[in-house]
Amino acid sequence: MKFFLDTANLDEIRKAAVLGLADGVTTNPTLISREGNVDFKQHIAEICKIVSGPVSAEVTSPVKDDMLREGREYVKIAPNVVIKCPLTVDGLEATRILNDEGIKVNVTLCFSAAQAICAAKAGASFISPFLGRLDDIGDNGLRLLEEIIEIYDNYGWKTEVLAASLRSPIHVIEAARLGSDIATMPYKVLEQLLKHPLTDKGQDQFLADWNKRAAKA
Ligand code: E4P
Repeated sequence: MKFFLDTANLDEIRKAAVLGLADGVTTNPTLISREGNVDFKQHIAEICKIVSGPVSAEVTSPVKDDMLREGREYVKIAPNVVIKCPLTVDGLEATRILNDEGIKVNVTLCFSAAQAICAAKAGASFISPFLGRLDDIGDNGLRLLEEIIEIYDNYGWKTEVLAASLRSPIHVIEAARLGSDIATMPYKVLEQLLKHPLTDKGQDQFLADWNKRAAKA
C-alpha cells in the first residue's frame, strides 16, 4: 500500500519524504488555505519538487468548463500533478474529458459505492472514499472501502482506491488489510503509526544499561 501525505505543509512533506514514507501527496482547498496566502500553483510546484509521486491539485470551480480550464492549467505545473475533481455531475463529466486527454484525475468526496462505480466508469485514475467523515456521522467508512475494493476487483477496474479522511493508525492498518492501493493521511497519523511506548521504554533501558557499563569501565 502506498502512503500519501494529506497535507499542503512543506515541512511535514519533507519530514515524511526523508523517511521514505511519502509516495504522493493529496491537497484540498482547506489544506492549502491553512498554509496562508500562498500562490496555489507555486505551492503545488514546491510540493512536486519534494515528492516524485502523484500530487493532487483540486479544482475550485463547481462548473465543468471551469474545472476543465483549471485542470488543463494545473497539469502544466509538473509531470506528477493529478487533478482532483469532486464527485458531482460536473466533476464526473470533467473527469471523463480530462481522462480522454490523458490527464489523471483523483475523484474526491466519495461517500458511497454507487458513486465509486460511476467515478471508475468516468475514467478516474483514483477514487477517494472519505472514511473519517462517514464515521463522524455514525456510518462505517471501512465498510465503504471494503465494498469499493470488492467491486473494482470484480471487474478488474484500473482506478486506484485511495483511502482518504483517515483519522487514526487503525484506519491505516485496516485499509492495508483490505488491500487499499493507497492511504492518504495527515502527518499526525503518520507519526502515530511510527510510535509505540514499548519501543521508547526499551530504547531508554538499553541506553541506560549501556551507560552503566561505560561508567564501570
Ligand atoms: C482527501 O484527499 C482529502 O484531502 C482528505 O482526506 C479529507 O480529510 P478530512 O475529512 O480530514 O478533511
